[in-house]
Amino acid sequence: MPSHPAQPMTRKILVTSALPYANGSIHLGHLVEYVQTDIWVRFQKMRGHECYYVCADDTHGTPVMLRAEQEGIAPEKLIARMQQEHLRDFTDFHIAFDNYYSTNSEENRELSQDIYRRLRQRCLIEVRPIEQFYDPVKQMFLPDRYIKGECPRCHAPDQYGDACERCGATYDPTELINPVSAISGAAPVRRQSEHHFFKLSQCRDFLLDWVRHERSRGAPLQDEAHNKLEEWFDAGLRDWDISRDAPYFGFEIPDAPGKFLYVWLDAPVGYMASFRNLCDRNGLDFDEFWAQDSTTELYHFIGKDILYFHALFWPATLHFSGYRTPDRIFVHGFLTVDGQKMSKSRGTFITARSFLNHIDPEYLRYYLAAKLNERIEDLDLNFDDFTARVNSDLVGKYINIASRTAGFISDRFGGTLAARPDADGAALLARMQGAADDIARAYEERRYGEAVRTIMELADQANAYINDRQPWRLVKDPASLEHAQEVCSAGINAFRLLTLYLKPILPRMAAAVEEFLAIPPLAWRDAAELLTGHTIKAYTHLAKRVERAQIDALIGENRAQLPAKEGAPHSETRHGAAQQHDNPPAVETISIEDFTRIDLRIAKVLAAEDVEGADKLLRLTLDIGDGETRQVFAGIKGKYTAADLIGRHTVVVANLAPRKMRFGVSEGMVLAAGPGGKDLWLIQPDSGAQAGMRVK
Ligand code: 2FM
Ligand code: ZN
Repeated sequence: MPSHPAQPMTRKILVTSALPYANGSIHLGHLVEYVQTDIWVRFQKMRGHECYYVCADDTHGTPVMLRAEQEGIAPEKLIARMQQEHLRDFTDFHIAFDNYYSTNSEENRELSQDIYRRLRQRCLIEVRPIEQFYDPVKQMFLPDRYIKGECPRCHAPDQYGDACERCGATYDPTELINPVSAISGAAPVRRQSEHHFFKLSQCRDFLLDWVRHERSRGAPLQDEAHNKLEEWFDAGLRDWDISRDAPYFGFEIPDAPGKFLYVWLDAPVGYMASFRNLCDRNGLDFDEFWAQDSTTELYHFIGKDILYFHALFWPATLHFSGYRTPDRIFVHGFLTVDGQKMSKSRGTFITARSFLNHIDPEYLRYYLAAKLNERIEDLDLNFDDFTARVNSDLVGKYINIASRTAGFISDRFGGTLAARPDADGAALLARMQGAADDIARAYEERRYGEAVRTIMELADQANAYINDRQPWRLVKDPASLEHAQEVCSAGINAFRLLTLYLKPILPRMAAAVEEFLAIPPLAWRDAAELLTGHTIKAYTHLAKRVERAQIDALIGENRAQLPAKEGAPHSETRHGAAQQHDNPPAVETISIEDFTRIDLRIAKVLAAEDVEGADKLLRLTLDIGDGETRQVFAGIKGKYTAADLIGRHTVVVANLAPRKMRFGVSEGMVLAAGPGGKDLWLIQPDSGAQAGMRVK
């Protein structure tokens, strides 16, 4: 816990998690953050602090506007539906927001427009014309992610307007070769328009001070984040384009008709708006938390991809519009599943809802907690490890303590606990109680993995104690019956303490245990007490093992449900951002831009040969234009011979990831129709089509 001498006994703390986009479903990648934050907030509340956790849907921007249009509904309708869906997912994962709001709210409009005005008053807004790509068919300016074309560096086809996925280059959309609008397919034209810029370049001194200054509550950023910021300072702070032209789903800029605030300006203001809404409903004092001289604490939990927004734009926006800045920004890494980036084709792009359909959400909370620490590392969800850990820790160690002692208390002692534990039991419980401060410090400092390790060591000690005393033997002899009650009571007390320590992670389990023990909700200070002479209820089974079949079903469901594409433009780009938050929701239909992600090209078969040891395969050498050739293994030998094919034109998927086969690498796929074997027909273009032409 931060050790400022003036730290009040009861702290007033406001906490946020990043606002999820309203254009996609919540998935396991998101949940790392909400679980991390929720555990921290629950811990603070258990400590008796006044802590508020607010969040909202991030609703504005081009993607939401276009998706609503595609669905033929108003954006307001789309975002209302998504907000409900998100909140339901969060609630089912036991994420307990004090308020879950929307950035498309009156509070947010007022605050955002007012912040804009204040920045303008301080001469921090500059208006100047810029040239951008404009879609003449759709009649709108195109965000970078909605322009595609050939990479100017490596000439890979079909790259986004801001960065090449093949060679990693970043560039300006105007540098793309043969750009097309991903919305209409039209060739975009350059057009000028006035944009409003926030002069971040003039906030340098303030930001340097904010980042480097050791505040009373500790440095605002983790070391890795701090280093990243120093790099950004060295590279120079560029002014930030905060306006977008109509049509745009967002808030209009005051006194600038047809100009809207860029979604990333009003999104973090959504933290304030959500809190203001809570204040209005609960009689809290908004200014106490947001005034420049506020003594309350403010923390933002975010993923590493949105650090630039939160550590530069956001504090500068706040400071220069007269508000306080965050005390600390807690940054976490990304989630990988079984060691790899989440993938729709592998079924590891797992939605929150599908997880809930198969597995107890508290098991995920526990597993994530066991792996979370205070650093910005990526975190792997390994399903074998997940199963082993949940079964051995939660079921095998923790729940086991209750299931081996509670039955005797009910059956033999009328449900009543002994007046005191035996000497060894007392020593065990004293050790367990003595760990409270260490565990609290680990929670406070977000070292949840360490907290879990300590708690499980205590569970091991409790199990060892029960093993040694063997209450199941003690109950058999009337002379040792009283001792049996003492041992089982010590076991139940150990179980109660473990429940208390795990409560920030396992709130539903804790509620069930409180019910079973017939006690009021456990708070942190209750660790100092023991349950003696108290009557508990009959034990009913509290947890089940996870079975591999559940995981297989989960992965199967996600593989089946989702289209085999790995991400599409759902947000405008962020600084060097991985797009984890932006992955698209499950959709049945695909957009034109989805289709244009597939690089279909006319190919000419230059050579075809049999493949030794493979009686269905032919090895094709294809000319795919621009002098490039590809080797493709095609399973078409049931119908075609090598000689049939040489010189023919067909269609190839040119941007399929290369696949290593026993005979060599296959660098694409030729298209054919039919079930296979003799019933197979290779696709052939009309005569005149040339190798390398795009099929669209
Ligand atoms: O990256 C994202 O998913 C954004 N929607 C996060 C916004 S956080 C805050 F700034 F609102
Ligand atoms: Zn490239």
